[in-house]
Order: sequence, then structure tokens, then C-alpha cells
Amino acid sequence: MDYKFTSRSEKDTLELAQNIESEKFPNMVICLEGELGSGKTVFVKGFASALGIEENVTSPTFTLVKEYPNGELPLYHMDVYRLEGSCDTVGFDEYFNKGGVSIVEWSDLICDCLPEERLTIRFKIIDENTRVLVFEPSGKQYEDLCDSVL
Ligand SMILES: Nc1ncnc2c1ncn2[C@@H]1O[C@H](COP(=O)(O)OP(=O)(O)OP(=O)(O)O)[C@@H](O)[C@H]1O
Ligand SMILES: [Mg+2]
Repeated sequence: MDYKFTSRSEKDTLELAQNIESEKFPNMVICLEGELGSGKTVFVKGFASALGIEENVTSPTFTLVKEYPNGELPLYHMDVYRLEGSCDTVGFDEYFNKGGVSIVEWSDLICDCLPEERLTIRFKIIDENTRVLVFEPSGKQYEDLCDSVL
């Protein structure tokens, strides 16, 4: 079953991410898809602040993964937009099983390297301030999470 959430402002997206954070567990994997400027990084910022991470979250530019070790759980923020070649060589797997939370922007570019159980969120731009987020949970933990948050 798919779940939908309509975000009418950046604040709505931040709050949604904070609500999902409250259901976090070790090795959680959240995959974000959607065009440029659709709000993926905004989502990561909301999640990070709820984890208690005080650093400013920006998309990793020179590396594909940025680690924030100082929150309630470690956060691994990946942005694979600029990935060249195969994802096998980057060792994403290691992050997915490291006990923290992984959030991947442009995850559709590394489908072959994603764990089977994960939460996929697709961002669609409706107009300047409106986004529709479609949630696709794979696995019981993620289905339960969607049931309780959405
Ligand atoms: N409802 C909304 N939710 C999230 N962001 C919104 C919303 N409405 C407007 N915005 C704006 O859209 C922009 C989203 O930028 P953001 O960097 O999060 O996009 P992105 O999906 O990460 O893009 P990229 O693919 O380039 O990394 C921000 O400038 C934000 O203020
Ligand atoms: Mg981004």
C-alpha cells in the first residue's frame, strides 16, 4: 500500500521528517527520489535536527557520504547524484549495516545496491510551495512506521 502526504511548506516537510525520526531504529534506510529542488535535503535537515545534530546539513558535494556521528543515532547522508560508475565500488552496504540511519538522495541511481527492506519516499513538485510525498515501505518495520506516522 502506498501512503501520501501533501506538504504545503518547507516547514511541513521538516515536521514530517521529525515525526519519522521519532520512529527511528538502528540500520534504518530511507531512500529519497524526486527532481531537483523537490525537498529531499530539507527532509534530511529535519531528520538531523530531530536527532539532535547541531551541524548545518548540506548535500555532500565532494564526497558521496557525509557522516554525522553526534546525534541520538549516527546519521549517514548520501547524495549519489554525482555517482559515476557502479555503486559496488563505494561500499554503501557498510553504512546500511553500521547501526545508524542512512538517508540516500537520488537513491534510484543505486537501486542495485539498496537493501531490500527500506522506506522509499518520492517527492513531486506541485507548485512553488507544494510537494506531494509518496511513501513506499518495503518490510514490516517500515510498514508499521508508515501506519503510525502517516
Ligand atoms: N513544501 C516544501 N517542502 C520542501 N521544500 C520546499 C517546499 N516548498 C518550497 N520548498 C523549497 O524547495 C527547495 C528544496 O530544496 P532541496 O535542496 O531540499 O531540494 P532537493 O530535492 O534536495 O534538490 P537536489 O536534487 O538538488 O538535491 C528549498 O528551497 C525549499 O525552501
Ligand atoms: Mg538535495
